[in-house]
Amino acid sequence: MAPMAGVADSAFRQVCKDFGADVVYSEMASVAALCYNPKKTLELLEFSEKERPYVVQLFGSEAKQFAEAARIVTKEINPDGIDINFGCPVKKVAKQGAGAVLMRDKKKSREIIISTIENTELPVSIKTRAQVDTIDALEFLDYMHDLDIKALMIHGRTLAQGFSGDINFDIIKKARDYFGGIIMANGGINSLDDGIQVLKKTRADGLGIARGALGCPWIFQELKNIKKENKIPEKIFEIALRHAELAESLKGQQGIIEIRKHLCWYVHGIIGASEMRRELINVSSLNEIKNIFNSFGFVV
Ligand SMILES: Cc1cc2nc3c(=O)[nH]c(=O)nc-3n(C[C@H](O)[C@H](O)[C@H](O)COP(=O)(O)O)c2cc1C
Repeated sequence: MAPMAGVADSAFRQVCKDFGADVVYSEMASVAALCYNPKKTLELLEFSEKERPYVVQLFGSEAKQFAEAARIVTKEINPDGIDINFGCPVKKVAKQGAGAVLMRDKKKSREIIISTIENTELPVSIKTRAQVDTIDALEFLDYMHDLDIKALMIHGRTLAQGFSGDINFDIIKKARDYFGGIIMANGGINSLDDGIQVLKKTRADGLGIARGALGCPWIFQELKNIKKENKIPEKIFEIALRHAELAESLKGQQGIIEIRKHLCWYVHGIIGASEMRRELINVSSLNEIKNIFNSFGFVV
């Protein structure tokens, strides 16, 4: 499961793990925050043992802060790996010189990767874009070829494309000539068929799935079994409720507020979904969620 800030918290990661996701990533965590005011960020990075292998993703722009953050995360969180974000296009992140814009500055990116590797015994991976301005992932990887980077997830879109548009399968395929570690193809995998096609076109070792898992965490099961799951609404609601229960147990009332958007994704494609969404977007308890499903004629 690819990292998703604001969405892929411990509850959702556990649900995805139950459906067969091999590796889950944390929401991206700021290295500056970890250095100067770590309490909230360390809370964000908490996880359950059943999520392992669990990778913490860091974002930032200063090599020194990556060094300190790598030490803190290794000691306080003890995940199974640390990933560095070279792919985020969001303005708030880009303004700090972090995320995808870092790919423009290979030297600085290299220092960041080295600082991270030197300050943890955990495997270090990177997540990149296919291209940022004139620098493509191949040139970027070539510049890092001697570094001990264990895995790479490439979002096959340029920074300019943001989150939509065609995926550059060719560049993901060619990455194999520049990188010896595990390669995961990412972007636009929203179904079993998409996953099969992407693996065929890229020959990647694995797939990174983000939005395709929203409201559909069984996409991992489909890919593992190479078999489509036709879930009836009752089954979907059962999964949604289990997810909501987990969210509440981990985050209390805040968990219920945050689950609202997931509930809206879960009902996608079900008859009566738009009316149901109007109610689900306001729920404030597990009972309310159950009552809404029941009032639409589904027994959960
Ligand atoms: C809500 C949301 C939050 C995201 N947060 C992160 C993040 O924290 N770190 C990161 O590297 N990518 C993040 N991404 C990008 C995804 O990991 C992924 O690269 C992108 O969505 C393309 O994959 P998809 O087509 O499967 O969604 C985020 C994407 C979404 C939609």
